[in-house]
Amino acid sequence: MTALDDSDTAAEARSPGLTYQDLLDADTHPVPDVLRLESPRYLGSGDVPIERYISREWHRREVDQLWSRVWQFACREDHIPEPGDYIVYDIAELSFIVVRQADGSIKAYPNACLHRGRQLKEYDGHCSEIRCAFHGFAWDLAGNLADVPAAWDFPHVDQRPDDFTLPECSVDTWAGFVFINPDPDAAPLDEHLGEIVEQFEVWDLGNRYVEAHVSRIINANWKIAQEAFCEAYHVNATHPQILTYLGDINSQVDVWDRCARVITAGGTISPLLDYEVSEQDMLRGMLDVRVDQEAPLTLQEGQTARAVAAEMSRDRWRPVAGDMVDQMSDAEMMDSIDYTVFPNMHPWGAFNRITYRFRPNGDDHRSSIMEVFFLSPFTGDRPPPAAEHKLGVDDPWTDAPELGMLAKVFEQDVFNMAKVQKGLETTRKPGATFSNYQESKIRWLHALLGEWVSNTTDTPVSVGTRS
Ligand code: FES
Ligand SMILES: [Fe+2]
Repeated sequence: MTALDDSDTAAEARSPGLTYQDLLDADTHPVPDVLRLESPRYLGSGDVPIERYISREWHRREVDQLWSRVWQFACREDHIPEPGDYIVYDIAELSFIVVRQADGSIKAYPNACLHRGRQLKEYDGHCSEIRCAFHGFAWDLAGNLADVPAAWDFPHVDQRPDDFTLPECSVDTWAGFVFINPDPDAAPLDEHLGEIVEQFEVWDLGNRYVEAHVSRIINANWKIAQEAFCEAYHVNATHPQILTYLGDINSQVDVWDRCARVITAGGTISPLLDYEVSEQDMLRGMLDVRVDQEAPLTLQEGQTARAVAAEMSRDRWRPVAGDMVDQMSDAEMMDSIDYTVFPNMHPWGAFNRITYRFRPNGDDHRSSIMEVFFLSPFTGDRPPPAAEHKLGVDDPWTDAPELGMLAKVFEQDVFNMAKVQKGLETTRKPGATFSNYQESKIRWLHALLGEWVSNTTDTPVSVGTRS
């Protein structure tokens, strides 16, 4: 292992073997410019204080200083297509309602009655007015007070109309995602999203529908759950069965100011394996062919598993995505192009249909909610979004067959999470250690988190600062 000092850059700290850019050079189709970008960033080698995962005090500060002020993915636009459609969006113990307006715009309000504070809505649904179930105060969709039962008893409410109009959150949309920011004076969403807006133009996620939506309660802090999906370094120990066809440790990691990504190539062997894997065996692995089964096809001389699997993927998607698949590179058909928007959203590029979201589970800093959305192309009318399939803490991902092969992989990921929480609660080590390159997306998330949440009670462990 080569020691790095601060003068080294993450760009130099790379796995031996094929780089991702080498693989792109061998692509059978033109590769979009966005995949040719490279932005390694050295974020320091300091540890991250474990307080961030285990401290209730830190959680409280996250609620006050992060969740109350940051742009966050609340729903897809097609969850609320018609005026009066609304969803309840909860983050930590905070709750908001997100409502489609008569003019097609979207507003969001703290989910609290201005009489005595009852939650206005408990479930997603459709309404012509927002009426509280306790005493019947009602607001129109635009948040104006519309009805007070026995109004003769509330002359003081009449005298303070501004105090009885539902306070608004900031709301905006990108690529079919509805974002809210509880802060009504938030800086524009585009500023928060930054580089990803231009980088995703080629993939048009707005033109997708929610084919699957599965959530599961996780017995670990939301960042422990999230960070399990921010690097491919864990694949060798957690998912060893996919090493024959996944370039785990030669993933490309790019960090910009406002977004970061890890691209992990499929159809290439892990540099950690010290034996040869034939192209045919690689294909068998990718297609999940059992040892006692015949592969559905045999590769011809000169064919690679990567190119053939990419073509199979084009064939699969052509009926719904059309001829555009024939313009798309093998990389776009095969690779995990995992972007992250701070603090908790992970839209994947190209044809890996995943978007993840990670949230605290109510006010419990030791549990979280992990969600997987599949955003799929469609032909004709946009199909309605899949209802959320809620899994409890003991329900395996394999109870959600709509996730296909991924369910088994998620099961392996989740197996670690409660154990990480437990280990962090007991360790004498004050900080978690991350690699310089492969885990730099996690360093980036923590650098931003440190900018949002004050470190007043942090132990003196340095967090990598952005260079
Ligand atoms: S608390 Fe809502 S009407 Fe009384
Ligand atoms: Fe994993």
